[in-house]
Amino acid sequence: MAALRFKYSCFLVLFAALLIQTRCHGHLCLPEKHVALFVFGDSLFDAGNNNYINSTSDALANFWPYGETFFKYPTGRFSDGRIIPDFIAEYAKLPLMTPYLHPAYRQYTDGANFASAGAGALVGTFQGSVVDLHAQLSYFKNLIGLLRQKLGDAQATTLLGRAVYLFSIGTNDYVAPYASSRRGPLSHSREEYVDMVIGNLTIVIKEIHKNGGRKFGFQSLPPLGFLPSPRALNLIAVTEELRTSVILHNKALSEVLVKLERQLNGFRYSMANMYNFLGERINHPSKYGFKEGKSACCGIGPYRGIYSCGGKRLVKKYELCDNPREYVFFDSGHPTEMANEQFAKLMWSGTLKDTGPYNLKTLFEL
Ligand SMILES: *[C@@H]1O[C@H](CO)[C@@H](O)[C@H](O)[C@H]1NC(C)=O
Ligand SMILES: *[C@@H]1O[C@H](CO)[C@@H](O)[C@H](O)[C@H]1NC(C)=O
Repeated sequence: MAALRFKYSCFLVLFAALLIQTRCHGHLCLPEKHVALFVFGDSLFDAGNNNYINSTSDALANFWPYGETFFKYPTGRFSDGRIIPDFIAEYAKLPLMTPYLHPAYRQYTDGANFASAGAGALVGTFQGSVVDLHAQLSYFKNLIGLLRQKLGDAQATTLLGRAVYLFSIGTNDYVAPYASSRRGPLSHSREEYVDMVIGNLTIVIKEIHKNGGRKFGFQSLPPLGFLPSPRALNLIAVTEELRTSVILHNKALSEVLVKLERQLNGFRYSMANMYNFLGERINHPSKYGFKEGKSACCGIGPYRGIYSCGGKRLVKKYELCDNPREYVFFDSGHPTEMANEQFAKLMWSGTLKDTGPYNLKTLFEL
């Protein structure tokens, strides 16, 4: 009897193995419950894609002291160490992600990071030295073709439907006009400009949804006027304009997501309150284990807010703090690994007031 049962269970195992085999049709096999992560956006999420395009030193962080703490070498991340998508991948039990444009990128079934420092939702934002959001979408579509080849249609569709699509975009669209002498956007009213940014982001969301994407993660824009960079310039008018743009953008983004949830079949999202996450830490650093909230660790001038970290940009002189863990900002516009980890935790498992209507953990488990 025992022997018989043993034989049967052997058959069952064999049968199950055969089933899995046939389901994969000799393609790469997608592991059960495997949830991929696709990352789109700007320098907050760029793990080094800009290293592989014809970029400029303003949109590059592939030099010391970037990467000094965790990686011990400059990877292209705009931080002393890891960035938010690195932590999210870790919490989701995915490996650390190689940037999509890295020649050795092969992580197909784990997802991909397309983010590019300096990128905006508008094609014109820092055009020429970044991969804008629409171009990131094109890369994503190329990858879908490859996934269908490697996994077969059915499994590729499963992967795309289960995956989480994470965005950090918009900051550069509002900052770029001040960085250029053309001052293009001033030919639009502020409301029109916000509509354009949100409109272009919406196009990309809808395209991903059309290609099978269902679970999306977003974050509100941080209080841009309170980064070390504008503080150093002390341009009150610019700070005020950025403040208004950010508030309009965040409101419009929240509204459009509620609308998309009604319009798009199966669309679910997480919206993290980055505005508060960063604002809180700038104003009350010690509450979160920091010594300094306003000044950057790396840079020069007031608040080390001049964008010179590493000495490869326009201004060559820079100072570097001893311990980035004590700072919210690593350079004049980008958080330290310590801050990024706190943000990622809030995005992953935060409560409704931090991250809603779903947090990322729930999205990954859906
Ligand atoms: C890279 O950018 C520089 C400066 O913008 C330009 O002169 C050059 O032609 C570009 N190279 C390529 C391969 O696009
Ligand atoms: C997208 O941005 C372009 C400018 O790059 C603008 O002309 C267009 O109207 C925007 N599209 C939407 C739907 O807002």
